[in-house]
Amino acid sequence: MNLTRLAVIGTGLIGLRHLAAAQRNTNVTLVAACDTNPAGAQIAATYGIPFYQDYHRLLAVEDLDGVIIATPTNTHAPIGGACAQHGVHILIEKPITGTLEDARRLLAAAEEGGIHTLVGHHRRHNYVVQQARELIQNGTIGDLIGVTAMFALLKPLDYYNVTWRKKVGGGPILTNLIHDIDNLRFICGEIETVYAATSSKTRGFDVEDTAGLTLHFANGALGTVLVSDATPSPWSYELTSGENPVYPLSGQDCYQFCGTKASLAFPSMTLWRYPEQPMPGWYRPLEQVRRIDPKAEDPLDVQLTHFCEVIQDTAQPLISGVEGLKTLAATEAVLKSAQVQMPVSPASLW
Ligand SMILES: NC(=O)c1ccc[n+]([C@@H]2O[C@H](COP(=O)([O-])OP(=O)(O)OC[C@H]3O[C@@H](n4cnc5c(N)ncnc54)[C@H](O)[C@@H]3O)[C@@H](O)[C@H]2O)c1
Repeated sequence: MNLTRLAVIGTGLIGLRHLAAAQRNTNVTLVAACDTNPAGAQIAATYGIPFYQDYHRLLAVEDLDGVIIATPTNTHAPIGGACAQHGVHILIEKPITGTLEDARRLLAAAEEGGIHTLVGHHRRHNYVVQQARELIQNGTIGDLIGVTAMFALLKPLDYYNVTWRKKVGGGPILTNLIHDIDNLRFICGEIETVYAATSSKTRGFDVEDTAGLTLHFANGALGTVLVSDATPSPWSYELTSGENPVYPLSGQDCYQFCGTKASLAFPSMTLWRYPEQPMPGWYRPLEQVRRIDPKAEDPLDVQLTHFCEVIQDTAQPLISGVEGLKTLAATEAVLKSAQVQMPVSPASLW
């Protein structure tokens, strides 16, 4: 594979992780970094690469195959559009854009510019997520009856020192739940309707801190999700997956999938089922089976290698722009449902 020439736009929380991933990836030449904040110059200097404060200038000056867009969500659309105009492929952080209208416009610009779009729902690159999908799709737990999922943890107060996180669109639904929605779409299938309620009573910001939702999947399965970033709880993907070393592991599970033959706890991948004989049922002890051990790989690294393959035309994006839009629509459906206090179909928003 030829070395892929990449730049990172946005050197904040997630941009720093992309820079580190790009530097250790042997398929990548890290070309430049860009941030409106001049403090980014020091970060670029640690990588020995040029720094730009204006992404237009970065795109005009540097010879790039791809760009990783790791800026606040409301800037994804204009930056992605500029990359499309320069014919530069994009790995765009999630959510693909701040609004569905922007997402549609970006998809059109990407098509016109002939660029590939990979959306940064990096959990789909996690081996355990892929195994959960496999077990559910291949019928190991029988027909899926339902899933219960938790995103419940405590973000420290200083996380909210960044102003955009306190405003509508910067809260746990669009920032965090969107990952779980994407996981559930990937593992269980398309979400047909969403019914949700939100609350901002604990933190008192404009944006929600808590939400409760029910999901109806196209295959007939049901789901419930509790979301809160204001509670000391061990039950979230962040604290259970071991994916990001900044979060200490709680050793708990965050999703439980229930099927007609067995149930699966994620990410411990514990399968619960009855022996065939005598007649299975609640009077008998359940067996527990551990299905897999996680791989010691960072999904951001796997995602980046995949981005290089997408750029080199040897792979189709695992999370295309359209998939990113559908996940955003399902997440927007949560906000809309809470607002109108009615079930909402994500497909009505595509
Ligand atoms: N995949 C994940 O797990 C994950 C995790 C965190 C954040 N994110 C997403 O990544 C994006 C960034 O989040 P963050 O938490 O890193 O934010 P952040 O505020 O920590 O960093 C954003 C950076 O972008 C810079 N910036 C703003 N406008 C810019 C512009 N026009 N050009 C260049 N730089 C600009 C800011 O100065 C800042 O340094 C958001 O869309 C967020 O949803 C994804």
